[in-house]
Amino acid sequence: MTKYRTAHGGTLRGSDIGNEVQLAGWVARRRDHGGVIFVDLRDASGIVQIVINPENNPAADEVLRSLRNEYCIMVTGLVRPRPDGTTNPEMATGEIEVGVSRLEVLSTSDVLPFQIDERFDADEARRLQYRYLDLRRERMSANLRSRSTAIRAMRRVLDEREFLEVETPTLVVSTPEGARDMLVPSRLRPGQFYALPQSPQLFKQLLMVAGVERYYQVARCYRDEDFRSDRQVEFTQLDLEGSFWDQDDVLETLEAIAAQVVKEVRGIEIPRPIPRMSYADAMARYGTDKPDTRFGMEIEDLGEVFAGSDFRAFAATLDDGGVVRGINAGSQGLSRAGFDKLVADAQDLGAKGLVWMVVEDDGSLRSPVAKFLSDRELADVAAKLDGKPGDALLIVADRREVVGNVLGELRLQLGQPDNHDDLHFLFVIDFPVFEKTPDGGLVPAHHPFTAPLSVEEMRTSPETALSRSYDMVLNGAELGSGSVRIHDPELQAQVFEVLGISAEQAEARFGWFLEALRYGTPPHAGFAIGVDRFISILQNEQNIREVMPFPKTQTGADPLTGAPGRVEEGQLEELGIEVRAEVQATWPELS
Ligand code: AMO
Ligand code: AMP
Repeated sequence: MTKYRTAHGGTLRGSDIGNEVQLAGWVARRRDHGGVIFVDLRDASGIVQIVINPENNPAADEVLRSLRNEYCIMVTGLVRPRPDGTTNPEMATGEIEVGVSRLEVLSTSDVLPFQIDERFDADEARRLQYRYLDLRRERMSANLRSRSTAIRAMRRVLDEREFLEVETPTLVVSTPEGARDMLVPSRLRPGQFYALPQSPQLFKQLLMVAGVERYYQVARCYRDEDFRSDRQVEFTQLDLEGSFWDQDDVLETLEAIAAQVVKEVRGIEIPRPIPRMSYADAMARYGTDKPDTRFGMEIEDLGEVFAGSDFRAFAATLDDGGVVRGINAGSQGLSRAGFDKLVADAQDLGAKGLVWMVVEDDGSLRSPVAKFLSDRELADVAAKLDGKPGDALLIVADRREVVGNVLGELRLQLGQPDNHDDLHFLFVIDFPVFEKTPDGGLVPAHHPFTAPLSVEEMRTSPETALSRSYDMVLNGAELGSGSVRIHDPELQAQVFEVLGISAEQAEARFGWFLEALRYGTPPHAGFAIGVDRFISILQNEQNIREVMPFPKTQTGADPLTGAPGRVEEGQLEELGIEVRAEVQATWPELS
């Protein structure tokens, strides 16, 4: 195959018995048994056991004695069956071993900062500092391979559909997409800055103006936002856009991509079509715009049950225009203390309180507040929440948003499966155009280039007006977002106006874009899938860091290279920049 090997160790099987092979890889584990040395040899294809008998091995004793973990070696030997009783059905290569006749050390390894063996945990800051060693671990190399498989599957679907892969610049002008921009100072124009793109949004729209019609890109995006388990400053989108397209065209394409990726990475077919749910429905039934539909436990409205109730907390809330809603959390087997903890959790989430009830064997309800409720109310609650003996019913009264948030979170806490074997995709559609900020202002729920469902409605009731935007959700995570775009410059100007951006401000910041829209812009629509999030779910990883080759820590640092770092005084001078504040990084900073 190459000068270094004739086979990949991890691919050897019983059918290779009797063949002489040359292998190259790393010493994953070494065991000595009565003078014979057993080595797990690892290469990119997996692990194979090689057996070195010093007696019939020309390699110097010294070499064999010094052979340590993670030495990079090359061996020649005969594939043979493992002796009876020593086969290992857990290993793909467990039936065979390679009897080594020649061994050469290609390079040695220093003492390792942590064991590569997955059975030993390593501190995450160390893992990132020695990422090149961390990536030798089976879990990490499997993640890298799945990532590559997924991206290849995405490309395959889009290439077949004759999309054009187009690269867009990463030194751009600052545009409003919600997050803070990462800035890059200009040397030729001191005092001026490029921004790194938060997404290729405006460029892909320009490509539609340019007549590209079908665009995609595996695009690196940069957002200076607070880190979370599903957020990094630098991440990857599968970005796509189509002309003469409407929502259905986008969703159909996304479905084809999702199905192909899951098929290639997981080897399973997803149920099609991917279900659709309106934003309003998602908020009412699940208390979130990204429902985890792997389990039920849906939120039910109990307003009718408690209208005019003698229980003040409920009646007063309803009178004030609030809502009373509940979930059937199923058989949680909670003690009194367990319920007290749930009440405290609900309060931490912003609820004034939480009423819990347990369905008794005779169908009656046990609850600290049962005495304040009528028999009719209790019977109706049990019926409405479909209570079976043993079920825990949880009820919150408050403003609609608070109730949705609290019950939505408790629902996840109590019902969410912790493995990702089940994959439940969902399209959430009909998002509002705008979201309210805490200080009462309006910001785009998606981005300001999203078409409203009705211009009239957007002008007259901006707070409730719907847009033509949609999200793709997988197991309760937002995988991606997109929308039908505004292709009319007048409408675009009106949206800016409702957002409080004056015509002058819009012209000053986006004049170039508004002008482009004036040259026969086709109707267009598109989407971006968060590649890191998608792969982390497929790989059952809780943090997207695990599926990114070289991710950053919580504070955007790279412990391996030391980025971000200081620069030479002279570099700053050229840029006309003076550092006025410097914060010392604190370690460790992972969570
Ligand atoms: P949006 O801002 O919703 O849409 O981003 C699309 C998807 O990108 C992923 N994502 C992230 N992943 C990791 N770290 C981050 N900091 C991060 N931020 C976003 C998410 C998200 O759903 N231009 C529009 C798309 C369009 O309208 O076509 C956009 O970027 O999975
Ligand atoms: P209180 O009248 O404040 O003593 O509350 C009586 C019970 O009702 C307690 O179990 C509270 O947790 C619960 N409770 C109070 N307010 C609410 C509310 N807004 N929603 C749900 N339960 C509540």
